[in-house]
Amino acid sequence: MSEKKLSGDVYHPTEEVINNANAKCDELYNFAERDYEGFWAKEAEELHWFQKWDKVLDDSNKPFFKWFTEGKTNICYNCLDVHLDSARRNKLALIWEGEDGEFKSFSYFALHRDVNKFANVLKSLGVRKGDRVTIYMGRIPELAIAMLACARIGAVHSVVYGGFSVEALHERIDDSESKVLITCDGAYQRGKIIELKQISDEALQRAATVSSVVVVKRTGHEINMEPGRDMWYHDLMALPIASNEENVEMMDAEDPLFLLYTSGTTGKPKAILHVHGGYMVGTYTTLKYVFDIHEDDRFWCAADPGWITGHSYIVYGPLLNGVTSFMYEGAPTFPYPSRWWQMIEKYGINILYTAPTAIRGLMRFGEAWPNRHDLSSLRLLGTVGEPINPEAWKWYYKVIGNEKCPIMDTWWQTETGMFMITPMPCTPLKPGSGTLPFPGLQMDILDEEGNPVKPGEEGFLVIKNSWPAMLRTIWNDPDRYVEQYWSKYDGMYLTGDSAKRDEDGYYWIIGRVDDVIKVSGYRLGSAEIESALVSHPAVAEAAAIALPHEVKGNAIHAFVILRDGYKRTDTFVEELRKHVGHEMGPIAKPEHIEIVDSLPKTRSGKIMRRVLKAKALGVDPGNISTLAD
Ligand code: PRX
Repeated sequence: MSEKKLSGDVYHPTEEVINNANAKCDELYNFAERDYEGFWAKEAEELHWFQKWDKVLDDSNKPFFKWFTEGKTNICYNCLDVHLDSARRNKLALIWEGEDGEFKSFSYFALHRDVNKFANVLKSLGVRKGDRVTIYMGRIPELAIAMLACARIGAVHSVVYGGFSVEALHERIDDSESKVLITCDGAYQRGKIIELKQISDEALQRAATVSSVVVVKRTGHEINMEPGRDMWYHDLMALPIASNEENVEMMDAEDPLFLLYTSGTTGKPKAILHVHGGYMVGTYTTLKYVFDIHEDDRFWCAADPGWITGHSYIVYGPLLNGVTSFMYEGAPTFPYPSRWWQMIEKYGINILYTAPTAIRGLMRFGEAWPNRHDLSSLRLLGTVGEPINPEAWKWYYKVIGNEKCPIMDTWWQTETGMFMITPMPCTPLKPGSGTLPFPGLQMDILDEEGNPVKPGEEGFLVIKNSWPAMLRTIWNDPDRYVEQYWSKYDGMYLTGDSAKRDEDGYYWIIGRVDDVIKVSGYRLGSAEIESALVSHPAVAEAAAIALPHEVKGNAIHAFVILRDGYKRTDTFVEELRKHVGHEMGPIAKPEHIEIVDSLPKTRSGKIMRRVLKAKALGVDPGNISTLAD
């Protein structure tokens, strides 16, 4: 691959990186292209199956694809139990540092022990195979323990990001009909406590299905405990119900593993469903090759486990590969902008995987902070969540990676479960491009009519074949699954992103083409922000759009129409922002709220956010023939 002369600003991997890599890239691409199912079967064979599959891919009922049919496995068993008979038994599975400097580590042995015990606790609370459990916590090891314990007994976890608030949590509990909520007494962020238990209490007043709440003690400050409903994690783990009795449930490859709510074009967030078998094979394989996982690596994915990145690459991917995953609780700049660099030095982190927004945020503080630390343990870097601007890429490459660590710019989604467009360590890089589809994946960029666009032209990014870690459906809404992802072009998965390809075939993601807003890499929906705004008694109508922001990538700007009788006061806008923060979470707070008398709408009454955005940016709004007024 490196022999071809590539255009533009190209960074070639060093000989050392290429020679060290697990994978011989060309072989991998060729194999997957020649025999796609054989490629995935070979990877699946490296994992444990209680019963082998009949068919690698069953596409008889498109777009409801099945992988490894009739195969029996359990992802938790593959994350933990399989490592206990080797030297990995005493190796660290998880290293955790709290924002306040607290430290915990778990060997594979210890993590297995705690997960197994907690799985027995969940069983004693009445959780059975197929039941849903909501997890709403800060970034602490018990979050991973809770996820793995659910997977172990076949319960379906639904992790709600700890930065979400009352209504967001309530909606997700209600929709998943969770029996149990696992939370904590609070989470540290920037030296303050986020009152997760208090938010949970408020959400539970609105949600009816939860009968038990398990509370992990993290901060130790005073909280309300509801008698008969709320129980401390450490109390439960000290009872005989937390026994060592083995409890792995043999799961069908297609049995649900988790729900993860994400924002779509319209309405409420939808629950993306992932399954045990294919998701396991997909996350295992992609992490192994893309981040070139070596036995003694310490891998740090700095995302939150409440989002897909944390599911796939803090918890499942690293443990499936038997490496050490590092988790940090708090803010990157607390108490100083050197916090991350200090931890890389202290723990000897080999691979750092983060988001452009974090890089831009840290870059603002200058080189002196990272330069004071020994970052020479780093071998590879990664980025995800939004397009990375070349300036941030180059800073990351030079200042953090010392010009020797390739940057894996991985494009993927909650729905895809695993990396889809990504370099390999051997791939020549171009700052800002995710380079090429992962081996075997067929992707394309199409115009409105479904024709592939020419190099340099923008179009809709689609995926033309199925992959093991793909979502299986939208929970309780298979019609929406078909409608949203598979209806624009026959037989192709619509990503919702626009992209370009250059003359070398490299992909360049431009951004979402729908009403999904990416704020600091977090995925939010215009509709959800608007519904949080109109839940305030003074607001009659609202529209939310994204405008460019130097660090966050995008910032939310909202326009609201007030109800009759309400007047704008000096403090009103701040009150509205707070209201959105309380209902949805601090990340959804609009940067700016403008009170207006009317909103641009189509004749059928749909708000034309595109027109608002053009007006705010002072650019041509394009075709406005459907505008009502
Ligand atoms: O727009 C793309 C952007 O993030 C979206 C998916 O968001 P989410 O489901 O929250 O998952 C994020 C983490 C996997 C995509 O539709 N996106 C993700 N990675 C990249 C990206 N945009 C550009 N470059 C990336 N590397």
